[in-house]
Amino acid sequence: MPERIPLARPSWTDEMRAAAMNTLDSGRWVKGPQGRAFAEEFADYCGVKFASPCNSGSGALIAALRLLGIGPGDEVIVPSLTFIATATSVSMTGATPIFAEVEPDYWCLDVEDVKRRITSKTKGVIGVHLFGQCYGTELIDLCKEHGLGLIEDAAQAHGASIVHNGAETMAGALGTISCFSFFPSKNVAVGGEGGMITTADAEIGARIKSIVDHGRNGSLQSQEVGTNMRMSEVFAAIGREQLKHLDDWLARRHSNAATLCRAIEAHPKLRAPQVRPGSEHAWHQYCLQTEDVERFLQHMSAHDIDARQIYPVPCHQHPVYNDHQQVNDEFPITSHLSEQLISIPVHHGLTDVELERIVDALNTY
Ligand SMILES: Cc1ncc(COP(=O)(O)O)c(C=O)c1O
Repeated sequence: MPERIPLARPSWTDEMRAAAMNTLDSGRWVKGPQGRAFAEEFADYCGVKFASPCNSGSGALIAALRLLGIGPGDEVIVPSLTFIATATSVSMTGATPIFAEVEPDYWCLDVEDVKRRITSKTKGVIGVHLFGQCYGTELIDLCKEHGLGLIEDAAQAHGASIVHNGAETMAGALGTISCFSFFPSKNVAVGGEGGMITTADAEIGARIKSIVDHGRNGSLQSQEVGTNMRMSEVFAAIGREQLKHLDDWLARRHSNAATLCRAIEAHPKLRAPQVRPGSEHAWHQYCLQTEDVERFLQHMSAHDIDARQIYPVPCHQHPVYNDHQQVNDEFPITSHLSEQLISIPVHHGLTDVELERIVDALNTY
C-alpha cells in the first residue's frame, strides 16, 4: 500500500536540527540573538524595516490590534471566509468584528462590501491573503482614504506578493501591520507554535517588540498593557533555517499548483482556483471547487490522498457568534464557497510520484 498523501508535511533538515540543538546548548533560551536575527531577516524578506517574532499567528493579530489602539466600542471589518482567529482576535480585544463578503473569484475581502460596512465606529480592517493569495490592493487605498488601520492577516502567505503602485510588494508590506503564523502546516514553520509581526511604520515599529514583552521598553518599565507573547530562541533558530528555503519551496509549490490546475482545467465537475492578475500566489493551500463534496472526498480518500473541506462553516455562524448582530445575515458568496471549497495537497514536500498519484486521482474522478 502506498503511504497516504498528507495535506501538509513540515520540512526538518540536519541544519534545522543543529540550529535547535546549538541554541539549547548555548543556554540562551529566550530573548537572545536568534530572535533578533530572525526578526531582521524576516523584515528584510518582506521589504520592511521592523519585525518582531511572537508566540503564534493569533497572538500576532491580537498584538497588532492593540498596537492600533483597538478595544471596546470599536468595530473591525473582517471576512467571514477565513480561519476563526481572524475574527476572534478582534473579540479578544473587546472590539466587535463586522463581517464582510468575499470576492467570487479570488475569495479575499470584497472591497465594495467593506466600503458599505464602514461606520463611525470602524477603526480598522483585517484583510486575509486567503490560501496564500494577496487581497486586492484597492483595500489598501480604501483604508488610507478612510484613515483606517489595515491589519494584514498573512498567516497563510509567506512569500506571496502583488503589484501595488507599480512595484511588486511582498506580503508583510501590504498593511499598516502584518501578521504571520508559523503553525507546522504553514509555508514557513518553527518546530512548534509561532508568529511574526511586521510593519514599515516607524512609530509602530518602535513598539513592536515591547507589545509582545509586557509592554516594556529597554528600562524594563511597562509603557502599555501587554503580556508575554515572545517566541523561544529555539523556535527562532529553526525559523531562520526554514526561511533560507522559502524561495525554493515556493517554486515547488508553484509548479505543483500549475500541474494541478492543468489536470482539472477541462474537468466538468471541478473548478481550479484563479490567480489575481499582478499577484504571485504563495500556494499555502490548493483549494478547488466542486458541487458534490462528499463524492469527491470519498474518491480522494479511496486513492489514499488527504482532502478536506476547508472552512465549512463561515466565521459569523460559529457558535461563539450566536449573539452577534450579523448571525442571521446572508453572505451568499461566502456560504457558497464554504460548501464547495476543498483543499488537496500542494505542499513543497510532495514527491514527483505523489504528485502523479494526485493527478491520476483527479483524472479518474
Ligand atoms: C488566516 C489565518 N489567520 C490566523 C491564523 C492563526 O495562526 P496560529 O494558528 O499561528 O495562531 C491562521 C492559522 O491557521 C490562519 O490561517
